[in-house]
Amino acid sequence: MLNYVEEIKKLKKEKNAIILAHYYQNKEIQEIADYLGDSYKLSVIASETDADIIVFCGVHFMAETAKILSPDKKVLIPVMEAGCSMANMINEVSLSQYKEKNPDTKILCYVNSTANVKALSDCCVTSSNALKIIDHYLAAGQKILYCPDRNLAKYAMKLRNVKFDCWDGDCCIHDSLTSHMVAKMKNKHQDALVVVHPEARLEVLECADYVGSTAGIIDFVKKSDAKSFIVGTEEGILHKLRKDNPNKEFYLLDEGLSCYDMKLTTLKDVYEVLKNESNEVTVEENIRKKAFDALDTMLKLS
Ligand code: 13P
Ligand code: SF4
Repeated sequence: MLNYVEEIKKLKKEKNAIILAHYYQNKEIQEIADYLGDSYKLSVIASETDADIIVFCGVHFMAETAKILSPDKKVLIPVMEAGCSMANMINEVSLSQYKEKNPDTKILCYVNSTANVKALSDCCVTSSNALKIIDHYLAAGQKILYCPDRNLAKYAMKLRNVKFDCWDGDCCIHDSLTSHMVAKMKNKHQDALVVVHPEARLEVLECADYVGSTAGIIDFVKKSDAKSFIVGTEEGILHKLRKDNPNKEFYLLDEGLSCYDMKLTTLKDVYEVLKNESNEVTVEENIRKKAFDALDTMLKLS
């Protein structure tokens, strides 16, 4: 049987390829990655790399973002069907209709969205820079629509004591968490700190000791003196948390915290796409340029 890890290493060298992986990937994929990160960091790496090929181990919008930022690179996704349910909750038709009715409103669009939706947006955001970017537009006195994640929008509105338009989308995995689950876990692990991704509902975020992106959670846990943590995000993050903090304990807030699409990628898939240079992600140039502007504005404001 082929040793996929060794074969992937050989192919990467031969083809000047890099592997980017999100923290929600299976642990064997995280282990072969050249760069592991949250959506923000991975998009920065994609925009700066001099590799010829980027193999993006994540979901489709992430690989598409890499292609938008690095049009001259070949961007490959190991599993073409790996999507994001939140990204599918908004499309260019409904966003265009909103824009027609609200021509003065700036569109802030979460990176968990398609290229077509990004192309209609003024600026993209990720969970690691959303507040900073929202603050920028609010300070300029502009009306905003935050799409498609309702939960992150409500969290920002609460923190800043303002109201703005938001889309009615969510991540079904994070949206399934409740404050009751937090209370139950806190009861079992009284000294544990609660760390949560901002895609969770406000009632959950209000019980958290820390709210942040996947990279933010990893950084917070590393710097914290606490010895145990209740983790309110996708279970793939536990691999990195345990690796970085062998003396700390981690309890997943709910057993169901697994993103089906993130877990589709296997070592065999990575090997095959790299070998055959298959599953190339493409974006029509007219759309790409507009989506690039929204991402570039985000990178400049971050
Ligand atoms: P991060 O930007 O925190 O990596 O989150 C991406 C994501 O899909 C969360 O569900
Ligand atoms: Fe999308 Fe949720 Fe999966 Fe993140 S965890 S990729 S938001 S479905």
